[in-house]
Amino acid sequence: MSRTVFIKTYGCQMNVYDSERIMGLLQGCGYTLAPEAAAADVILLNTCSIREKPEHKLYSILGRLKEYKDANPALILGVGGCVAQQEGEKLFEKAPHLDLVFGTHSIDSLPGLIKQVETKRKKVCRTGLREEGYSDEGVCCVASPGVSAYVSIIRGCNNFCSYCVVPYVRGREKSRPQEDIIQEIQQLCRRGVREVTLLGQNVNSYGSDNGRTGSFPRLLEAVNEVTGIERIRFITSHPKDLGDDLIRCFSALDKLCPHIHLPFQSGSNKILRLMNRGYTREEYLAKVEGLRRACPPIAITSDVIVGFPGETDEDFEQTLALMEAVRFDDLFSFNYSDRPMTAAIRFEGKIPAEVKSKRFSLLQELQNEHSLIRNRTLLNTEEEVLVEGMSKKDGRRITGKTRSNKTVIAEGGAELTGRLVPVRIRSVTAHTLSGDIVC
Ligand code: SAH
Ligand code: SF4
Ligand code: F3S
Repeated sequence: MSRTVFIKTYGCQMNVYDSERIMGLLQGCGYTLAPEAAAADVILLNTCSIREKPEHKLYSILGRLKEYKDANPALILGVGGCVAQQEGEKLFEKAPHLDLVFGTHSIDSLPGLIKQVETKRKKVCRTGLREEGYSDEGVCCVASPGVSAYVSIIRGCNNFCSYCVVPYVRGREKSRPQEDIIQEIQQLCRRGVREVTLLGQNVNSYGSDNGRTGSFPRLLEAVNEVTGIERIRFITSHPKDLGDDLIRCFSALDKLCPHIHLPFQSGSNKILRLMNRGYTREEYLAKVEGLRRACPPIAITSDVIVGFPGETDEDFEQTLALMEAVRFDDLFSFNYSDRPMTAAIRFEGKIPAEVKSKRFSLLQELQNEHSLIRNRTLLNTEEEVLVEGMSKKDGRRITGKTRSNKTVIAEGGAELTGRLVPVRIRSVTAHTLSGDIVC
């Protein structure tokens, strides 16, 4: 009988992609996916340490999983991803029933590491950060791609924003060879994928570690040529490195979707400097203007941090003013949280929790207004929707995404999954569009 594995993924798209790779690798070794943790021979948690809360949650989840281990001592319990990279062997002290810790650069070795736990019946920890290039992984074979797939193009980050743990847990930037990326996309396409999202912490840096700055627009051009791919997206773009070349791609490449996720983090120049972001609010606004000039329908989404150390009411007002000036289509807001190893953990002027949450609510209120205003501009327009499947809330409706990455609900059946359909938008909320498929 084949062995089964259950993987739970936390955090960003990089982790989603890594989990898909893990599943692909383990399938190649005879594993199948367990429908639930209770039925699995191996349970893997792919973790995120970007903020304190999810890290703490992990420890309570691990505590609960002890029950499974008590009931089935042969069960292998592993923790991977960014918390594994950050904590290493310390995780065995926090959760003595844990068998395996594997870091962000150890995914390829995972089948061997699981085997070691099985045969030697001892704990295994592998968290080295490899310094060589990103050609070792070759072409990935994800287990079961849907209509839309992630493709990693660069791993790691060199930016060291003062609040961020990523450079410490993912290592330095390493670009993947263009041939591997294109081959992976061609393979995905043969398996039914129509939309690819190119992944990196800062996709604009693609190629810089090999001395080829400005390679990202060239890569987009090459992906645009892959027959069968209908839509291209990418995340994340760092404002300081967003050049005119890339902005031009939005008007020049037919498959590149009119959406950019461009985190601004703060509207105050003082805070941006403390964050080590490398741009000013004026520079950020100029890039937004450039994007809208090149591609008027472009949807712009962003990330913002509330309550960074030293953030005064005036600084926060500047954040609200920047939001007003841009009117983002959507915004992911986070309360600042101290992270180990980062510079900001030592900064003075930490903001009390109640001030942070007050600012957070004000910001969300404003964003809801803006999301609604932006969505209203789509009323009565016809949008191309890539159908992802049936709506979970309503069995007679399909759900999908517009080219601008907005969720649309419309009456229709499961046979439309994977198809591009025109939908006339009839009503909108801040978060969803509803409409009718145009026959
Ligand atoms: N590479 C991307 C985003 C990485 S993390 C970029 O450069 O924009 C995703 C988001 O988490 C960040 O954009 C930031 O808004 C938030 N974040 C990162 N560290 C944080 C911290 N210590 N506290 C609160 N939010 C944080
Ligand atoms: Fe973190 Fe900054 Fe790198 Fe983004 S660019 S991953 S926020 S250090
Ligand atoms: Fe979290 Fe690691 Fe991504 S810290 S946001 S899973 S890179």
